[in-house]
Amino acid sequence: MVFSLPEVDQSVLLRGPAEQQAFGAALLPSLPPASVLFLEGELGAGKTTLTGGLIGALGFVGAVTSPTYALIHAYPTPAGRALHVDAYRVRGVQELYDMDLEDLIAGSRLSVLEWGEKLYGDYPAAMILRLEHLDGGEDVRRVTRLR
Ligand SMILES: Nc1ncnc2c1ncn2[C@@H]1O[C@H](COP(=O)(O)OP(=O)(O)OP(=O)(O)O)[C@@H](O)[C@H]1O
Ligand SMILES: [Mg+2]
Repeated sequence: MVFSLPEVDQSVLLRGPAEQQAFGAALLPSLPPASVLFLEGELGAGKTTLTGGLIGALGFVGAVTSPTYALIHAYPTPAGRALHVDAYRVRGVQELYDMDLEDLIAGSRLSVLEWGEKLYGDYPAAMILRLEHLDGGEDVRRVTRLR
């Protein structure tokens, strides 16, 4: 299955984790150096799986896991550093900026932010994807590009 970037407000259906990863990998050409990708979606919607495909496409070999406890995972890749941030437990934007997130993003090839809606205004050029389970569909996810 070959995927391409959906237009804003368009959706793609992904059947199984392999497609979820392939879709993530297909986003790479649309994400220039130091760019941010925002992912929103409920528990188990496939955010980490998509991120794994994307970071794998940068040449990282290994497992990409949820940054739930560490808040930020940094992956060295041949193309530069990839950041994976989970802002779910973050109370305010200041907490993120106190971690030098701005500089970390600027110095990375790519930063994927889950639950980062507080930063949507600060990164107006960043793509936003919403991931959802489909009703009754255990093994299919819908990804909608919101921006
Ligand atoms: N398109 C898909 N179809 C079916 N299963 C999928 C799909 N994408 C991911 N999965 C599976 O759904 C489960 C949850 O995926 P994942 O951990 O990526 O979700 P998440 O959004 O990161 O969840 P959390 O909010 O808990 O971090 C995993 O078992 C994964 O293999
Ligand atoms: Mg996750």
